Amino acid sequence: MDDLRQKYLAAISGAADEAALEALRVEAVGKKGEISLKMRELGKMTPEERQLAGPALNSLKDEINSALAAKKAALADLALDARLKDEWLDVTLPGRPGPAGTVHPVSQVTEEVTAIFADMGFRVAEGPQIESDWYNFDALNMAPEHPARQEHDTFYMAVPEGANRPPHVLRTHTSPVQIRALQGQGAPIRVIAPGRVYRSDYDQTHTPMFHQIEGLAIDRDISMANLKWCLEEFVAAFFGVEKAELRFRASHFPFTEPSAEVDLRCSWVDGQLKVGEGDDWMEILGSGMVHPHVLRAGGIDPDQWQGFAFGIGIDRLAMLKYGIPDLRAFFDSDLRWLRHYGFSALDVPTLHGGLSR
Ligand code: DAH
Repeated sequence: MDDLRQKYLAAISGAADEAALEALRVEAVGKKGEISLKMRELGKMTPEERQLAGPALNSLKDEINSALAAKKAALADLALDARLKDEWLDVTLPGRPGPAGTVHPVSQVTEEVTAIFADMGFRVAEGPQIESDWYNFDALNMAPEHPARQEHDTFYMAVPEGANRPPHVLRTHTSPVQIRALQGQGAPIRVIAPGRVYRSDYDQTHTPMFHQIEGLAIDRDISMANLKWCLEEFVAAFFGVEKAELRFRASHFPFTEPSAEVDLRCSWVDGQLKVGEGDDWMEILGSGMVHPHVLRAGGIDPDQWQGFAFGIGIDRLAMLKYGIPDLRAFFDSDLRWLRHYGFSALDVPTLHGGLSR
């Protein structure tokens, strides 16, 4: 009996897992287990022998059962410990990683400009990037023989042989959206139209695709004074200065009369742009009072309505505001550039929350 005790106690204490333990239980005290079989032999013993062997077998069975239970509990504890170690979680870690991407400066500046003009009651209008040459030129008072057409370095879409449709171009400016917005909404109207434009040009300050934002405000009595106020408000808010000083220089655009190019008073200190002070002037946009021909092309009676329009280069605004030297890098998709100049995807520019952080 001592041999049995030693054999099973040693095996139980060495059992590696619950399955091994269960096998041992069956082998020792199961119905056909070694100890159970021994107990059946009690019947064949003399009463004296039985008196000795019975209690001894019973206590051996108890001893083995409690060793099994103790080992089972110990194994469960071990398993729990292992799980706790394995599934450990640091609840003090940040819940989510920050967004991996950044907002491109062009998108950022578009949002900023849109926020500023939205605050002045302008809504966003859109037009197609592949535009008929009527919208891109004719409707804007640029007849086919108009010399300004040549200045635009236009990309023309191929017209298939025998196709009976008007020529299309990649729009060379956002001005055609003026016509579409007038046709769609009529007057009075206040819209801005940000978007891509295309010209065949490539150097440090020109890329074949770039971005403009068009502005249009038409009502009964809108004048150059309203244009000047709007642009001053815009520039001050955009560059984050108390007051911006603008200079209106007489110019010529076919779609406005009179026309003005607008310069911004600034200075360059150690290559850093300072707006609103200094002795330099920097051209930032073209503008004017919308030409009667343009209003008519948009379906508006120029004897009833008048207003201003302007066009700004978004990429150039981004270069100036954020000190980005080369326009071409904007469109290289270089991750290092995007990470360096990109903006947090979760900071949406607003006038009350701040335009850029
Ligand atoms: N469309 C002109 C360009 O691309 C910019 C421009 C000038 C737009 C004067 C206007 C404007 O609306 O009034 O060069």
